[in-house]
Amino acid sequence: MAEQPFLERILISQEQIKQRVAELGREISTDYKGKKPLFVGILRGGIIFYADLLREISIDCNMDFMSLSSYAGTKSTGEVRTMLDLRESIKGRHVVIVEDIVDTGLTLDYLMKSLADRGAASIEICCLLDKPCNRKVDVSPKYVGFTIENEFVIGYGLDYNELYRNLPYIGVFKK
Ligand code: PRP
Repeated sequence: MAEQPFLERILISQEQIKQRVAELGREISTDYKGKKPLFVGILRGGIIFYADLLREISIDCNMDFMSLSSYAGTKSTGEVRTMLDLRESIKGRHVVIVEDIVDTGLTLDYLMKSLADRGAASIEICCLLDKPCNRKVDVSPKYVGFTIENEFVIGYGLDYNELYRNLPYIGVFKK
C-alpha cells in the first residue's frame, strides 16, 4: 500500500479483524442461544464493527442504536452526552452493547449507568478494541476483539476529526 500521510502504521489488518469478528460472533451466539439478545450499536464509531459482527451472529436477535459523544479531535472532553436514545424498551432483555473502543471508560460508564434502571435481564459490553492502560473508571467489557496499547487509532469506524472512519483496517494516527 502507498504511504499515507495520516498513517504511522497499520496496527490490525482487515484480515485479522475479519477473523476475530467471526470468532466473537460464534462465541456470543453460543453464550446467548435461546435468549434473543438485543444488540445495541453505539453510533457513530461502533457502526462498522456492529454491521460486521451482526452478520456473524447465528441466533435470533434484535437491533437497536444509541448515539453518544465525548471526543473532540484526539481528546476526550470527559463529558458524555446522549445524542440519540434507544427506540425499544430493554425491560427483561439480554442486552449486548457493541462499541468500537473502550478507552478511558467514561463513555461506557455513563452508558451503563444510564441503562441501569431500565430493567434489563443482563447487560454486557462487546468492543473491538480495549485500551485498559488508559482507564479512568472501572469498565470491564466481556467480549474484546483486541487489547491495544496507548496509541491514537483510526479506521474501521474510528475517526480523527470525523475522517478515516472508512478505512478497512485499524491504523495508528500520525500526528
Ligand atoms: C469514541 C468511541 C467510544 C468512546 C470511547 O466515541 O466510539 O464511544 O469514544 O472512549 P472512552 O472510553 O474514553 O469514553 P466518540 O465520543 O469519539 O464518538 P463517535 O463514536 O461519534 O466517534
